[in-house]
Amino acid sequence: MHTIGEHLFTNSGWEIVKDRYEKAQAINEGSTFMIGNGFLGYRGTFAEDGKDAYAACVVTDTWDKADGKWEELSTVPNALWTNASINGEPFAMDEEVDSFERQLDLRHGLTSRAVKKRLHNGVTVTITEEKFASYDKKQLVAMDYRLTVDRPAEIVLSTGIDQDVWSLNGDHLGNHRTETHPDGLLVQAETVTYQDEVVVAEKFQLSHEGEEEALSGEACIGRTIAVQLAAGEPLRLTKYMVVLSSNDHSNPKQAAMEVIGALGSYEQEKESHSRQWEALWNQYDVEIHGNVVDQVAMRFNIYHQIIATPVHKSLPIGARGLSCQAYQGAAFWDQEIYNMPMFLYNNPPAARRILEYRYHTLDGARRKAKRLGYEGAYYAWISGKTGDELCPDFFFKDVLSGRDIRNHFNDWQIHISPDIAYAVKKYFHVTKDSDFLEQYGAEMVFEIARFLASHAVYKPMRQRYEFVRVQGPDEYHENVDNNAFTNYQAHAALAFALDLLQWMDETVLHDVRERIGLTDDEIELWQDMYAKLYLPKPGKGGLIEQFDGYFDLESIVPAQDVTKRLIQPDEYYGHPNGVAVWTQCIKQADLIQLFVLYPMLFSQDLVEKNYEYYEPRTLHFSSLSPSSYAIAAARIGKKEEAYRNFRKAVMIDLLNTNEAVSGGTFIGGIHTANNGASWQMAVHGFGGVHFEEDVLYLNPTLPREWSGMTFNLVIAGQHLEVTVQDNKVRLHNQRPTGEALNLSVNGQTLVFDGEEAELPLEQR
Ligand code: IFM
Repeated sequence: MHTIGEHLFTNSGWEIVKDRYEKAQAINEGSTFMIGNGFLGYRGTFAEDGKDAYAACVVTDTWDKADGKWEELSTVPNALWTNASINGEPFAMDEEVDSFERQLDLRHGLTSRAVKKRLHNGVTVTITEEKFASYDKKQLVAMDYRLTVDRPAEIVLSTGIDQDVWSLNGDHLGNHRTETHPDGLLVQAETVTYQDEVVVAEKFQLSHEGEEEALSGEACIGRTIAVQLAAGEPLRLTKYMVVLSSNDHSNPKQAAMEVIGALGSYEQEKESHSRQWEALWNQYDVEIHGNVVDQVAMRFNIYHQIIATPVHKSLPIGARGLSCQAYQGAAFWDQEIYNMPMFLYNNPPAARRILEYRYHTLDGARRKAKRLGYEGAYYAWISGKTGDELCPDFFFKDVLSGRDIRNHFNDWQIHISPDIAYAVKKYFHVTKDSDFLEQYGAEMVFEIARFLASHAVYKPMRQRYEFVRVQGPDEYHENVDNNAFTNYQAHAALAFALDLLQWMDETVLHDVRERIGLTDDEIELWQDMYAKLYLPKPGKGGLIEQFDGYFDLESIVPAQDVTKRLIQPDEYYGHPNGVAVWTQCIKQADLIQLFVLYPMLFSQDLVEKNYEYYEPRTLHFSSLSPSSYAIAAARIGKKEEAYRNFRKAVMIDLLNTNEAVSGGTFIGGIHTANNGASWQMAVHGFGGVHFEEDVLYLNPTLPREWSGMTFNLVIAGQHLEVTVQDNKVRLHNQRPTGEALNLSVNGQTLVFDGEEAELPLEQR
């Protein structure tokens, strides 16, 4: 047994086990122990749980704005809802249970619970339940529920569909209609704003015959079944919940019934689901040798990134995945910068789908640019189905005055657009998928360049272009000029657009240019801007200023000391009046993230100096932050710092270390960007992986706490398994294409064209 936290452990590195029931943890554990498949997320709650215990199933592509402010995904009726009453006493979870264990089986995508409780009436009841959200049939969630008693007892089992589930901002479904079908019940409802139809159907099988009566609760529809149960004899209920919406099928009711009709036994469905998970782990697993806790934490994060990612169609990866409705089930820059690399290097078609989503939402980005007075594509800071901006103007509250704060995430955080161009370029370089570029990528990149050109300001006295009134990744400082991260990203996007103009086939280029009306004058402007865009350079002490005037702000080290100035603990720290605004205290990695994206653009010495300056000034109040510092630290050989930040990051959701509420807004749930970043910390950080100019760089520097690491990389169609161990790198090409691969391993260059290679590593 390997301890992860209090009452939290793993045995094999494939499961998370908790052996204490804590009611107060329901909101956190509902996310930690959840199941999902990219189509739906079913929270890690128990069969008898209702909205008080934050029971919910969040479904993709069901956006609704019931409260008029937050457009978020809907939570749908819970068709697994079940409770038992034993000799008239209803079973209830509480801290008095005699034994309890819950598990998340990462290898097979299963969540389970075993609980034993002596009731007031003297009967000891044992309940076990196991659930999975099928990765094989994405509309299906299945449950195996078993109950035994230590003496003969009458069990009245209530099971049905609970329609009153947890929802953050308003009731998104209305007009509920119920029907029976041969295997159970079905509910149809409609989203309030867009009238999308949602169907939830149940099917159940009970091991025993019993006297059945209709359930009479208002919210819960179903039946009670009374059964006489002998001591030690298991009562088994298998339940299936099938969810469909009119956004996935023209006749969701018929489609739901077809899924119900084709269901196999629980064991058969579990088997086909498990086979899918086996295949997923073959693609995405990162094996950490010699440290079971880090191993399970890594797999936990990979698991959550997989279940958050829609693969059935082109939809965003939510910043909280499908763990809850926070952050609106929508994509941020997180998607391309934090989530995408794992898919890019392990499953390129999935990475392509992520970028195709940005192509499908290009019109939304065009609309946003136009609305704000720009040209081209200004991608939404919070992007849902259409790509129109979902980020409300007023995101947080000033808890002291009770007034809403006008944050400018939605109109000043312009780096989102060049971040997407960065991802397109990376995707193309690693996969060589020119088809994507020609069909979608070039158009996106040109529209992004167009937007940047329309936003930049030319300062004649300084003879340079600048970006004024922006917001970099550090969200506490809004309304800043020349954020270094933004300017460098914009510069790279322009460079890529200009490269594409050179590189693309003339006819294809002609078509794309025609389609978007791209003129020679515009291209000239991009060239001029590329040559004269202001890129903040290292000044005194080798430091790059995060934005104009940053060094003049009050320096507070360590940044955490600024917290002492709070009047109330849940105050918002940022713009316009928060305690961090007039200081150098930053919310999250900003300049450091630039180093993460461009490992070869800056010298190690420069990165180190800036790391040492910015790290003590960083509050790490965004879950996106520790991972960036971990990667940067690993690359400059700060092993201890890298490992410390790694541990902090991989534990964010396992130990629930981040605030669930900020400035009055609920931002809890699974931190999906950090899940993706966990993979990056291992592969980009400790593995030292970087691909640039057709060379695969491997500069591993493992933490002392590990004896080795194995991961996969798919580069230009070649499937490599990389093992770093015993001061060696071993490469195994599992699918050689015959093409040679240029490698640089700790500075030694070589051409890899065989199936196996082993290279010595210098001690770092
Ligand atoms: O995109 C991030 C941002 O950088 C920090 N606040 C939360 C967002 C969603 O994860």
